[in-house]
Amino acid sequence: MILSIIAAIGKNNEIGKKNELLWNLPADMKHFKEATSGHTVIMGQKTFESIGHPLPNRRNIVLTQDNLFQREGIEIVHSLEELDALLKTSPQLSPGKEEKDEEVFVIGGGQIYKLFIDKADKLYITHVNASFPDADAFFPEIIPIVFLETSREEHKKDEKNAYDYAFTTYTRFQ
Ligand SMILES: NC(=O)c1ccc[n+]([C@@H]2O[C@H](COP(=O)([O-])OP(=O)(O)OC[C@H]3O[C@@H](n4cnc5c(N)ncnc54)[C@H](OP(=O)(O)O)[C@@H]3O)[C@@H](O)[C@H]2O)c1
Repeated sequence: MILSIIAAIGKNNEIGKKNELLWNLPADMKHFKEATSGHTVIMGQKTFESIGHPLPNRRNIVLTQDNLFQREGIEIVHSLEELDALLKTSPQLSPGKEEKDEEVFVIGGGQIYKLFIDKADKLYITHVNASFPDADAFFPEIIPIVFLETSREEHKKDEKNAYDYAFTTYTRFQ
């Protein structure tokens, strides 16, 4: 299994405010959909509630410590141990893929990124070229000696996307 993290982050690693995103960047939404469709996505309960529904064409797994939490269309786990067991006993396999090649995406939010950053093989980071002083959720520090930036695609703001942004990937080399 390849464990990937996908996030869009501001100049100060900002990712959210009051359980919502800080920007409306349709190009990043498209990028997220293309990367994650057909795969398993793992998220915290707050991010799930912020999205408001299971993401279509993906296996949705939600982390919560609330034993009473239940929603339609998702799988719920209460700890990393439970998550490991679920992924081992019922791996989702895309056609033609072996289990070792299957990519699983951690999609947020701040608490969940922090839980997984030391385990992730790959990061898909959209760097949003702006600062958001009133953010209350953050991505953890990407330590350069741990993650090597392996691709970068720069984009200028346009009529639909209000900020310059860059799609990047990082690969763990330590
Ligand atoms: N920019 C981006 O790419 C991006 C992506 C995703 C989300 N976001 C933003 O991030 C913000 C939400 O992030 P957040 O940090 O507040 O919340 P979160 O990480 O989405 O979810 C936190 C919840 O996850 C559960 N949890 C945490 N650690 C756990 C553990 N060890 N075992 C089991 N469950 C655990 C808890 O649920 P219970 O309280 O139910 O126990 C906790 O309240 C929002 O503003 C959202 O819009 C941004």
